[in-house]
Amino acid sequence: MAEAAHGGHEEHTDAVRDLSDSESISAAAPAEVGLRFEVDGEIATVTLNRPEKRNAQTFATWSALARIGETLPDRVRVVVIRGEGPSFSAGIDLRMFTPEGVPGQGSFATAAALDDGAFERRIAEAQRGFLWLRRPDIVSIAAVQGHAIGAGFQLALACDLRVVADDVQFCMKEPALGLVPDLTGTKPLADIVGVPRAIEMCLTARSVGAAEALQLGLAEMAVRREELDQAVQDLAAALLATDRAAATATKRLLQAAPGRTLEDQAAAERAEQAARIRALFASS
Ligand code: ACO
Repeated sequence: MAEAAHGGHEEHTDAVRDLSDSESISAAAPAEVGLRFEVDGEIATVTLNRPEKRNAQTFATWSALARIGETLPDRVRVVVIRGEGPSFSAGIDLRMFTPEGVPGQGSFATAAALDDGAFERRIAEAQRGFLWLRRPDIVSIAAVQGHAIGAGFQLALACDLRVVADDVQFCMKEPALGLVPDLTGTKPLADIVGVPRAIEMCLTARSVGAAEALQLGLAEMAVRREELDQAVQDLAAALLATDRAAATATKRLLQAAPGRTLEDQAAAERAEQAARIRALFASS
């Protein structure tokens, strides 16, 4: 049975409430967090839930995401990130660009006055909301429909896999607004599409649709909008069919492969396999 949060799952309702204790964000209202968290067996689902604002994200959203990662129940093996409504996410809340900012969270103008250490901590805290999605013991899937702009694109890139609807529009808009993508998106983007294509996409801030996303490897699968949720559930079920320890070790190997020589990777395979075979076949 699914447990829902915010409203719902107790520990994560608490986590969302804890945002007010965050160093850089004071008393963020739940409406500014805009997340729903549910656990159904081994599958956790995080839903961006401000459809009327196209799931615009704030610092409170990212702190809440980080807390979800920190307190994820051990049994969870697949994490689905999805967005309610017509768009996955229209990126950072544009109120950050105004003098008033986002209630309880300031604005870019107030951020500009931070010293280097406070700046570093604030962006690192935001990035923590994204980085846990790469943990080897889980597989994260972004279910992306409509617009995925800026922080929305980066959230999709933070996941291991992307399943997209045929109306998807990925856009890295930060450079067009005078910013850089800083929510951990530049590395997966460059790793997936290559540096030249990433430069072209980001510096023109153009949109990438479903067919091109598939072709570039930005999406593993593209389906009709009405089939998106079912396609993600089917993928999650297929992922859950493998042995968890083997899946974790294999993800760890694959993640490290691009940064290793063939010899080092072969050695890592030997070490992981020795642990697997001992776990499976060692007599008592
Ligand atoms: N921040 C705050 N509010 C937003 C945002 C946002 N990023 N995006 C949309 N909204 C609000 C709109 O202001 C509007 O609110 P209102 O009904 O109170 O007027 C509501 O969401 C619906 O927006 P529309 O523009 O009417 O929706 P539509 O579906 O036609 O367009 C689209 C969606 C294309 C995403 C458009 O809203 C848009 O371009 N948004 C801004 C995208 C952007 O520049 N994001 C920043 C990227 S940079 C970064 O993330 C670091």
